[in-house]
Amino acid sequence: MMTTSMIGKNARLPTHVAIVPDGNGRWAELRGLPRLSGHHAGAENMRHMVEYLSEYPIKYVTLYGFSTENWSRPEDEVRGLFSLLEEFINQYVLEIHKRGIKLRHIGRLNELPQGLQLAINRAVELTKNNNGMTLNVAFNYGGRVEILDAVRRLIAEGVSHQNIDEGLFSNYLYTDGLPDVDLLIRTGDELRLSNFLIWQTAYSEYYFTEVLWPDFSKKEIEKALLSYSQRQRRFGGL
Ligand code: IPE
Ligand code: MG
Repeated sequence: MMTTSMIGKNARLPTHVAIVPDGNGRWAELRGLPRLSGHHAGAENMRHMVEYLSEYPIKYVTLYGFSTENWSRPEDEVRGLFSLLEEFINQYVLEIHKRGIKLRHIGRLNELPQGLQLAINRAVELTKNNNGMTLNVAFNYGGRVEILDAVRRLIAEGVSHQNIDEGLFSNYLYTDGLPDVDLLIRTGDELRLSNFLIWQTAYSEYYFTEVLWPDFSKKEIEKALLSYSQRQRRFGGL
């Protein structure tokens, strides 16, 4: 367990943390390196972050890896990101499994390259009975498309309009079975949501920081958790 932490034992922690890890490209550019080196550094940092987060009683973590809008990046970068994730999953799936983490994918899997689909499916299958932290990887994910996919499925299944409420609708999203996001963290000095979990963040607390993702350390995540623990959530009440 944590030894030196600025988070007190009784601090209120989020159940579900979502992360938009932004700033890999700028991190690399600042060092005169190709953007893909930034993504490598970002992936390495992700590995450490998952380790830190799994030491807290945080049940769900959702990471934005690749958005449906990221296809508009140069082909080299897109291909680089796909092979990076495939390599990364294959390399760390056992470590994730040993930590009791359950891996899950959200987004449109079947539009991704075969090798990556296979790596994701294998990792999900291997870890499906784990009951530690659930790690959701949003890869080829878009919030609006997720909502449209839910609507299409509701119609295809002939669900009566009278039966559609927020609870039922949530069950048709990719995040079926997950609670709403409590804390959304975005690094890299951008103050926007970028089509991430737009339904699930309706009442989330937001934490933005200028720190670029590869530099977002254990101390930085503690700052975010501390900030969350000091906020008062009212959900529209008084
Ligand atoms: C975020 O870093 C990682 C992904 C979108 C995969 P960026 O690639 O957006 O980095 P910047 O914003 O250009 O610095
Ligand atoms: Mg960016």
